[in-house]
Amino acid sequence: MDLVNNERRMLKGMLSKPNDEWSLEQLLDVTGWSDQVHVAGAGKGLEELGLVEVEENFTRMASLGPEGRKAAENGLLESRLWEWISNKEEGQRSMDGLISSGFDRNETGPGIGILKGLGVAIESGKLVFSDEEEITNKIQSRTNFIDLLSNGDMDSSTLDKEMISHFSARSGLLEFEENVSRKWKLTKSGASIDQSALSEVQLIGELTPEILQTESWIGAEFKTFDVQAPAPTPLGGRRHPMQSLIERIRSVFLEMGFSEIDGDYVQSAGWNMDSLFIPQSHPARTMQDTFYLDNPDKVEVENSYLDLWAKVHEHGHDTGSKGWGGSFDKDESQRALLRTHTTVNTVRHIAENPDSPSRVFGIGRVFRQETIDRTHMPEFHQIEGIIHEPDANLPMLISTLKTFYAKMGYPDIRVRPAYFPYTEPSAEVDILWKGEWLELGGSGIFRPEVTEPLGTEWPVCAWGMGLERLAMLILGLDDIRQLYQPDLEILRKMPLL
Ligand code: PHE
Repeated sequence: MDLVNNERRMLKGMLSKPNDEWSLEQLLDVTGWSDQVHVAGAGKGLEELGLVEVEENFTRMASLGPEGRKAAENGLLESRLWEWISNKEEGQRSMDGLISSGFDRNETGPGIGILKGLGVAIESGKLVFSDEEEITNKIQSRTNFIDLLSNGDMDSSTLDKEMISHFSARSGLLEFEENVSRKWKLTKSGASIDQSALSEVQLIGELTPEILQTESWIGAEFKTFDVQAPAPTPLGGRRHPMQSLIERIRSVFLEMGFSEIDGDYVQSAGWNMDSLFIPQSHPARTMQDTFYLDNPDKVEVENSYLDLWAKVHEHGHDTGSKGWGGSFDKDESQRALLRTHTTVNTVRHIAENPDSPSRVFGIGRVFRQETIDRTHMPEFHQIEGIIHEPDANLPMLISTLKTFYAKMGYPDIRVRPAYFPYTEPSAEVDILWKGEWLELGGSGIFRPEVTEPLGTEWPVCAWGMGLERLAMLILGLDDIRQLYQPDLEILRKMPLL
């Protein structure tokens, strides 16, 4: 039989001398334990094995509550009232007299109620009753009950039931406490166990180099572990799930040979939009989408760029394009705004490094006037990147994105034709998730209207993907707001990446 040491010790103790049933004290004595937890635990184990029977006796101990202790000292309210009443002449037992005779204000009200229950009535202000002796006896037995309990706690099953229910209904008079007492008995199979088989064994809980070297493990018994046992979840610190995701994305792009860039939240409309050949009358530039700023209300842009963009927008300059026509507004170009996409970073990177090939990425916050709901927030993040080199091309763009998403755990992607004012061709990128295609962002090859004013003629593969959408998939969320609420409960339970 597979017994743990505590069970062996308890069983051995119970077999050491004949005893029909064992109390806790006797078991503590025979096992040498000082803690009843050991007895309870080992007893339970032995009970499950059918070697011991545990008998539990529940007792409800009654004692006097705070009001009860007062009554034991000063007499029950009814007994004090009754003393006043029965000492008065019949004609003088009036309510007014009672009230003015020194009883506490808050005693007379409940007191009258109690007296009525005993057979006292009030007739035109006078207290009347018929059987004086009976009332006296009833009150006496209540007093006796309180006196009995004033000597100490009593098992409520030994007490008068009517008294218990009467006093339980009055507040503060009685208190109860549940007690369990246990007795342990050997069963037949417990009593037939051979004592010599019960010596305690040294169980090995952890293998050490010494145990291995001395070969004491040979024939040793090992402690079993219950891997299903409930255990507390350790609440150590952890990164915010969004931050770990950003770290993960960062390391994937670094692994793929990209370098990281970043930029400011506050930008000019020129760099955020005009440089990308977004026409100044484009709907995306109206107040609905963009947060324009009052302070600063202007971000200066170098004149050389303003001149170039003006020409490209108005007639295409020498990019081979016809431009958008109309007249370009250089003041509009210098309006300050919160960047609406991180494409502003990659464009500026090309402008600053027109002659050196580059593969760069950035993960950054962008701002758009959106109504907050399950899938939208006015602040979110984009995963932006470009490949700027002489042989950049569309297949290279697609395979780069495919590699990125495969490394993130989404090997199936597809691209669909799309439109952006600054790319040609343009493609929308979807990933396959639980059998559904989900749109994650835009991409394309920058148009010459974008690249030539920046000083390069090489093609540029460019993309801008949503971070939050990806986070929702990876973290299994159905509401984007869960990512940003400081609800530690929810955050702790989000998967580790
Ligand atoms: N800037 C686009 C957006 O915010 C994404 C994009 C980036 C598209 C680069 C094409 C090229 O949705």
